[in-house]
Amino acid sequence: MSGNKTLIMIKPTAVRKAYIGPIMGKIAEGGFKIKAMKYTCLSIEQAKAFYAVHSERPFFGELTEFMSSGPIVAAILEKDNAVEEWRNFIGATNPAEAAEGTIRKLYGTSLGENAVHGSDSDENAEIEGNFFFSATERY
Ligand code: CMP
Repeated sequence: MSGNKTLIMIKPTAVRKAYIGPIMGKIAEGGFKIKAMKYTCLSIEQAKAFYAVHSERPFFGELTEFMSSGPIVAAILEKDNAVEEWRNFIGATNPAEAAEGTIRKLYGTSLGENAVHGSDSDENAEIEGNFFFSATERY
């Protein structure tokens, strides 16, 4: 059975371009419920820990430097089948290939600076949610 939560981030470029508001609007439109949310900044060490699964990939340095380059918004969203629903909702990883109307198409800049993150499995949603939020920060 699929889970009902996913961990999302609004990435530094989208925050810098003042897209937090529009993206929050899309989240509401998509029927996702906010269970936890914070405006924060990842250190390079935190970014490396969060994306440890990609540590062997050639873009790991670029990815972690970018993700620690400025404030982000992290949130746990709830919806039936949340991981897949969110991934469909935001569009392909590369904004250039994302479907019209998706968050990455509307607000993404490039493959690395693709506006938002979404967990890729229920297991990682749990791990990533715990990375940002304690039990008392979820409502
Ligand atoms: P995200 O959903 O945050 O998960 C991993 C991220 O790595 C992904 O979004 C992209 O932003 C980034 N990424 C994937 N492939 C590349 C690449 N070839 N070059 C730079 N960044 C990439």
